[in-house]
Amino acid sequence: MPFLSSLFDAPSRWTKLDPLASRAGATADRLLPGGRVRGLLHGRPAGHPLHPAMAMLPVGTSVSALLLDAAAVLVPGGAALGAPARGLAAASVATVAPTALAGWADYVDLHRDQQRTAIVHAAGNALAATLWTASLFAGRRARLLRTAGTLVAGGAGALGGHLAYRWAAGPNHAEHLFHLAGGGEGFSDVGPLDDLPEGRPAQRWIGDAPLCVLRRGGSVMAITDTCTHLGGPLHEGEVAGTGEGTTITCPWHGSEFRFSDGEVLDGPASTPQPTVETRVADGRVLARVVGPPR
Ligand code: FES
Repeated sequence: MPFLSSLFDAPSRWTKLDPLASRAGATADRLLPGGRVRGLLHGRPAGHPLHPAMAMLPVGTSVSALLLDAAAVLVPGGAALGAPARGLAAASVATVAPTALAGWADYVDLHRDQQRTAIVHAAGNALAATLWTASLFAGRRARLLRTAGTLVAGGAGALGGHLAYRWAAGPNHAEHLFHLAGGGEGFSDVGPLDDLPEGRPAQRWIGDAPLCVLRRGGSVMAITDTCTHLGGPLHEGEVAGTGEGTTITCPWHGSEFRFSDGEVLDGPASTPQPTVETRVADGRVLARVVGPPR
């Protein structure tokens, strides 16, 4: 395995972090507000997690400070750049808390191996923020502290990227279903109507794409079955509501999706669920994946 990949994978196996990981999750769940505010922290209005977007603020300001500090050393008369570099370091410090808050909200429902990595990522960023804060009061050592903070934040940020892309914490886990189901081309037969249980969700397939199908009398509604949050099986979840307002709640972390448009109504998911159009003809259920919502 490539050296960097195994280095970034290591924290996911550090079981000694588990008591801390549990406490951090329980504390976040208790302290962070629920409802719309929690949805905002997850990034629901944007349709993707807020935390990585927020992270651009401390990263951008601290790297800009680093460049000004380098120019202050390399460019004749660059000493005047110290003041704006200090201002950028202050901006980095100011943006750390809201960025961390969004990350903390997402952290609560991660798998344990992802949480271990997230703890190390957060510890690195906390150290970076401490160094940036110290630089604001440090006089001659300010440049050194700013630079050290930015380097530490760079390592922590790389680990965060590894957590997102290698360990899939944050990305949409259902985008591929539209393509697996044939890219919306025509309807597929997913089985007899009479084989579906009344009023309870069941799993059916279009090719390799799983669907969560709900029969009520002679009508059928469906949504893709792999939860956008972390891939939970929606057909094992709870159904609520009627008609256009019918919803399914994921059994893993409680994200609630509306069948009719895939919208996320509650829980940690930030991306809507790809939707499914259904018909009943000659006692057979026909379906096609329509979304992801575009
Ligand atoms: S997998 Fe987390 S809410 Fe569905």
